[in-house]
Order: sequence, then C-alpha cells, then structure tokens
Amino acid sequence: MHKMKNLADKKILFIICGGVAAYKSLELIRLFRKNKASIRTILTSSAKKFVTPLSITSLSQGKVYEDLFNIENELEMDHIALSRWADVIIVAPATANTISKLASGNAEDLASTVILASNKQVYLAPAMNVRMWEHQSTKDNLKTLKNYGYKVIGPTTGDMACGEYGEGKMSEPIEIFNEIQNFVENRKENKKIKALVTAGPTNEYIDPVRFISNKSSGKQGYEIAKSLHKRGFDTTLISGPTNLDIDQEIKLIKVETADEMFKATQKNLPTDIAVFSAAVSDFKIDVKSKDKIKKKERLNIKLERNVDILNYISNHNSMRPKLVIGFAAETKNLESNAMKKLKNKNCDWIVANDVSKENIGFNSDYNEVTIHYNDLKKNKETLSHKKKSEISEEIVDRIVTHMN
Ligand code: CTP
Repeated sequence: MHKMKNLADKKILFIICGGVAAYKSLELIRLFRKNKASIRTILTSSAKKFVTPLSITSLSQGKVYEDLFNIENELEMDHIALSRWADVIIVAPATANTISKLASGNAEDLASTVILASNKQVYLAPAMNVRMWEHQSTKDNLKTLKNYGYKVIGPTTGDMACGEYGEGKMSEPIEIFNEIQNFVENRKENKKIKALVTAGPTNEYIDPVRFISNKSSGKQGYEIAKSLHKRGFDTTLISGPTNLDIDQEIKLIKVETADEMFKATQKNLPTDIAVFSAAVSDFKIDVKSKDKIKKKERLNIKLERNVDILNYISNHNSMRPKLVIGFAAETKNLESNAMKKLKNKNCDWIVANDVSKENIGFNSDYNEVTIHYNDLKKNKETLSHKKKSEISEEIVDRIVTHMN
C-alpha cells in the first residue's frame, strides 16, 4: 500500500529519455503529483517517440520542456534557473546514450545542460537491453557518475520489451518514488541539524614568512562537507589552508593555525554532528620570531604541543556534539592506532586512513578507509578504494541513518 506523503513544498525535475520504459515514468509522475509535489519535465528528442508532451502536462500539471533554446521558455525560466529550481532531479528512464553523455560532461541538449549546471542530487533509473547494461562502457560510465555523486536506482532483472531476459529493466515507479521521497523527507529534517567539519592542514609559523605544515590537501573533509550539505544538514566547514572551493551555501571559515582552528571550532558550537578530518599540526613554535630569521649555521626551533581540538571538544560534556567522528592518519599499525584514538579521544566513530600509500590518503583523489565504531555491535566497516567524493557519500549515508 502506498502511504500518502505531503510533498507540497518539493520541486521535482523529471528528465525522460527515449526508451520503452518511458511509459513507467508517467506512473512515477502520477505518484509524485498525488503527493502534491511541484513537477517540471524535460523530454529528450527521442523520448517524444514514446510519450507525448500533452500526456505529461496533464498528469504533472507542470510545464514540459523540449528544446535547449526555446525563446519562450528561456524568457520564463532559463536553463540555469531550471537547474536551480529543482530540489532533486530524476532521470527515468536513463538510457545508455544519456548515461554516456552525462559521464562525458556533454551539454548538447536541454537535459544534459540542466544536469551539468545543477548542484542538486541527481537520481538515475537506468533502463536498457541486458547486453547494453552489461557492456563495459556502460559500467565505466556509471562508475564515473557515481564518483560525481549521482545516485542510481535499479535496474531490475526480468523479461524485456526486446524479448530478451536479464538485468536492465527500469525499477518499479513505487520503488523509485519511495527512495526519492525518503531523500527529500530526510533532507527536510536534516535542515534542523547542525554539522561541523574541520579539514586541511594547519600552518604553524616560525617567523613571518616560514611555517611548518603537512601534506594534507583537505579533499576528504571538503567532500564530506559537500555531502552533508547535499543531504540538507546546516553545514559549517572550518578549513586550514587549501586550494579548494566549496558551494557558497556552506558556511566556510578559513583559518591558518591550530589555535585559530580551535577558536573557530569553539565559536561554532553547539553542533549536532562534528567531523574532525583536519590534519592539525600537533606542535607549534614555542616563540615565533617577529622578524624574518637570518641565515646562520644552525637554527634550533623549540616546539610545544598544540591543543587537541577533537579531544578537547569530545571530552567536555557541555559542548560535546551528539555524533563525534574523528580521523586517524596512520603510516603503520592502522587498526590498533585507530582503536586507541577511538577510545582516548572519546569518539563515536573513527575513520582510519593509511597515509603511507601514494594512491590513497593525503593529496590523492582516492581513499580507502575503515570506520571503527564505539558501538561494539557495529564494530567496523571498510570502504574499499574509491574516489574521496564517493567515500564521503558513504560516510554521510551512515550519518543520515544514525541521526534519523
Ligand atoms: N586532531 C585534532 N587536533 C589536534 C590533532 C588531531 O583535532 N591537535 C584530530 C584530527 O582532526 C583527527 C584526530 O584528531 O580527527 C586524529 O588525528 P591524527 O593526526 O591521526 O592523530 P594525533 O592525535 O595527532 O596523534 P599522532 O600524530 O600521534 O598519530
């Protein structure tokens, strides 16, 4: 039985591609409309061979777009505004051709242009012949799209319109509806939840022009902040020096030293979730020279301990966030060191990260991590080698489940 939901304040952009499964999209649109969502639809040129603009307009009670440069549409809402309008974009059916276009960043028609210009969650419901689905190029394209943060629903296995049997059938509309409705509902709830992320290295100054730092690029922390924001969390990112950009809707606080990061973190409490991914320098210079130090035979620098931000926050009951996630950057004894940090730093979860390898960790776009939980029932989970964007999506999936 389909339970009614009130999606009155939700804006859904449907993209229908040319495939026999397009008829199922009508049912999907009907489900969203029944739940009061606002709907706009883009039809690719081949989709029009399977469904008509008129049937979609009547079902969705919303505008249907067909061409990239239609003067009338561009005046009313241009293709960029259309990509901003949506809370979520659903491509159903997503054909092999559209999947390939999206994976290569194509912008030759309205559908691909709107998706490329979008900063919203994109869902794909693939539908194609089993051989096309199993083709290596389709697999590679989907892997690329998952790395970009697109979500894929289905396909399922069964008899196909072409007479063959196998995997490639578009998922049932109710399944697609349920997954997306869950996403939009969670997103609404998550807006009330505050999340804080620390990221990047810190610089500890020796004199006005020299500092001690480390190899952290900040990529994993930025990706986590992006994933949290995409799920609706009210996200603040406190970042050491990096070359990275972030969505303007995320509150970004740039700091340089560990002391500045500590102050900024305290200032942004209370928060419900805190993810400490920064590679904070453990030491600072005891007495920083006011002037540039001149060349000499030997220079002795005395270092003193920086405050451990994670440890401090998680051990002060009055300010401890509900969910505290630490990172452990290790070059050896990954598991035992991570477990020690989980306990000593009073974390709920610790994400263990081997930083001795070239192809993961510091500065790489890829990572491989193990999440250790303080909840003994959950124990640990390994997220295998993949893009940092995908690792962060998977970590945030777990945060969403935990918080809800
Ligand atoms: N951390 C922190 N403040 C510090 C040092 C570390 O908040 N001054 C946090 C990191 O953001 C990370 C966790 O503590 O979430 C572990 O950091 P890591 O560098 O792996 O370990 P350290 O505690 O610095 O211990 P060690 O260098 O001895 O491995």
